[in-house]
Amino acid sequence: MDPLLDFTGKVAVITGAAQGLGQLLAQELAKRGAKLVLCDINETGVKQVAKSIAASGAKVIAMRCDVASSEQCKAVVDSAIKAFGGVDIAVNNAGIAHEFMPLHDIDESIMDSQFAINVKGVQFGMRYQIQQMLKQGQGCILNVSSMAGLCGSPLGSAYAMAKHAVIGLTKTGAVEYGRANIRINAICPFFTLTPMVTNFADEEKQKKIGKIAPMNRLGEPKEVVATMLMMLSPANTYMTGQCIAVDGGVSAT
Ligand SMILES: NC(=O)c1ccc[n+]([C@@H]2O[C@H](COP(=O)([O-])OP(=O)(O)OC[C@H]3O[C@@H](n4cnc5c(N)ncnc54)[C@H](O)[C@@H]3O)[C@@H](O)[C@H]2O)c1
Repeated sequence: MDPLLDFTGKVAVITGAAQGLGQLLAQELAKRGAKLVLCDINETGVKQVAKSIAASGAKVIAMRCDVASSEQCKAVVDSAIKAFGGVDIAVNNAGIAHEFMPLHDIDESIMDSQFAINVKGVQFGMRYQIQQMLKQGQGCILNVSSMAGLCGSPLGSAYAMAKHAVIGLTKTGAVEYGRANIRINAICPFFTLTPMVTNFADEEKQKKIGKIAPMNRLGEPKEVVATMLMMLSPANTYMTGQCIAVDGGVSAT
């Protein structure tokens, strides 16, 4: 296998792996030799994903985890250590959107859920992943932010707040743990055709949003996952603290 994409024996934890980007990333890492610890608040969904990946011969465990719970995030890392001896790669991918609405209509419950899942959920994951990676002397973390973490996001202010916070956690973590040989980066996709988007936007709406991008379309999950693989690659050893847009050119406008 090309060493750029050879994940043989690497233990990878992925949150939010029951569907969308997390599911596809799990499938792609398994094909390339990784051992997987998958979790999601949707226990049935994540166990189904694990079952289909295991059928191809990969080593995989799956469990329920609400990333808003610090204890449950710890349990995921503990399970990885118990099943496979550690955590080489961690992808803090679980996240939620909220209905499009102007900032002056965003109420406290939306702020709370965005903060609990999209911000605290990432910090809880990082906390226990880093504790283990410090013991190992190495590790690689990829946080899933968004274009909304880099730019203003009209009608998505609470989501933008949360995804900007993920960038803050990523950059600070990279600086704090660079000397410990732990790389920490974030990926920042524009609208991508996962259930998060297809559940609220029909084809007409997708086309309309796609027009914002110089490439005149939304992203495909495989395009985002290809960049995730590159960022996680065992050959990609000097990249840390970076927040990479996968956005059809939106951030260039
Ligand atoms: N699809 C996009 O357009 C897009 C763009 C930018 C960033 N993102 C980010 O990418 C990540 C993955 O999103 P996706 O597009 O695959 O969405 P998705 O809705 O298809 O999948 C998200 C997964 O996260 C899980 N999840 C939600 N809340 C959780 C919780 N509290 N604990 C554990 N799991 C939970 C869901 O059950 C689901 O399986 C998210 O962080 C999202 O914000 C998505």
